[in-house]
Amino acid sequence: MTGLGKKTVEDIDVKGKTCLVRCDFNVPVKDGVITDDKRIREALKTIKYLKAQGAKQILCSHMGRPKGEVNMKYSLQPVQKRLRELLDCDVIMASDVIGPDAKAKAAALKDGDIMLLENLRFHKEEEKNDPDFAKELAGMAEIYVNDAFGTAHRAHASTAGVADYLPAVCGYLIQKEIEIMGTALENPKRPFVAILGGAKVSDKIGVIENLADKVDTLIIGGGMAYTFIKAKGGRIGASLCEEDKLELAVRLMEKAREKNVKFLLPADSVIGDEFKEGCKVRTADSDKIPDGWMGMDIGERAVREYTRAIKGAGTVVWNGPMGVFEMPDFARGTKAIAKAVAESGAISIIGGGDSAAAVEQLGFADKMTHISTGGGASLEFLEGLELPGIAALNDK
Ligand code: 3PG
Repeated sequence: MTGLGKKTVEDIDVKGKTCLVRCDFNVPVKDGVITDDKRIREALKTIKYLKAQGAKQILCSHMGRPKGEVNMKYSLQPVQKRLRELLDCDVIMASDVIGPDAKAKAAALKDGDIMLLENLRFHKEEEKNDPDFAKELAGMAEIYVNDAFGTAHRAHASTAGVADYLPAVCGYLIQKEIEIMGTALENPKRPFVAILGGAKVSDKIGVIENLADKVDTLIIGGGMAYTFIKAKGGRIGASLCEEDKLELAVRLMEKAREKNVKFLLPADSVIGDEFKEGCKVRTADSDKIPDGWMGMDIGERAVREYTRAIKGAGTVVWNGPMGVFEMPDFARGTKAIAKAVAESGAISIIGGGDSAAAVEQLGFADKMTHISTGGGASLEFLEGLELPGIAALNDK
């Protein structure tokens, strides 16, 4: 289920072979400049290994969602520049994906050379997992290496389809992600504490269901907490609430009780009278929020209770912020939890996306055991789902 047991780059002879290496270089770019290069840095170990082994590399990735059309706003050129800087060697760039430029440059590669294709999603066939497109991509190479953990939950031509035509192995990043997260799920150091936040219960149902079978404590924060609090009969004012999920919320809390899982909701909340910076701010019991006010962060009492639970943990998995951390008035809860996780001494795993961004922004990144490069992918992994990009790889 987790993907442990798949072949890796070390299980195959790559010397002198052309490797199609799928990376997730979908990084934030502002005015042509990459603002967070974590995903590129995390891909370097595999790229350096392949280079040292004398492989010829064709790196490929998507960037953004150009919807199957060439749109230079989503060009991978900034990634080429950054790769050159980080690798301190030349990285050739093809001006297309499976066109004449890519094919000619691929054919001219020498041992140790590295080339980068343009954005895979300039072709609509990529997201459709079109077999002819996958075959063309695979046709330029002899081995397929998937190291794009962040895109492993997509069954696209470059993440799954190409594996039908080439020996398919994973790189070091995918290996690291599935080893660390897989071990946490299957053989965690206890107590195992999961912290789930974010706006919506509906985004986290699968994760809660799956983790309720595995964890000792489930800590809930963020907008999703208020659906649970209302389901328990609390008054939540104008807080976020998914009315159609109230019954489900009751069922999830019952499941936690049956499994002896401590299910913690925030005792108090920092509330605002409008969803904007500069609004009036107060603290209230989370089940007694006045009309017109909404919960925007967990309060001090909740922070103390959550910190206590995190302090004693053996493993902590965190996905989703505790409040609207982009607004300084409502960032305290997320910051306090990040600090508690960083100082806990537990094996700490941060699901990608917002919680990873929060931990980076708040300066706790280097204190965590693992920050996943996958947002959607890490969430699906925590749900216990099979990721197509990993399932497609060859077994050991
Ligand atoms: C991500 O950023 O989560 C991955 O790169 C996948 O991108 P996507 O959601 O556009 O498929």
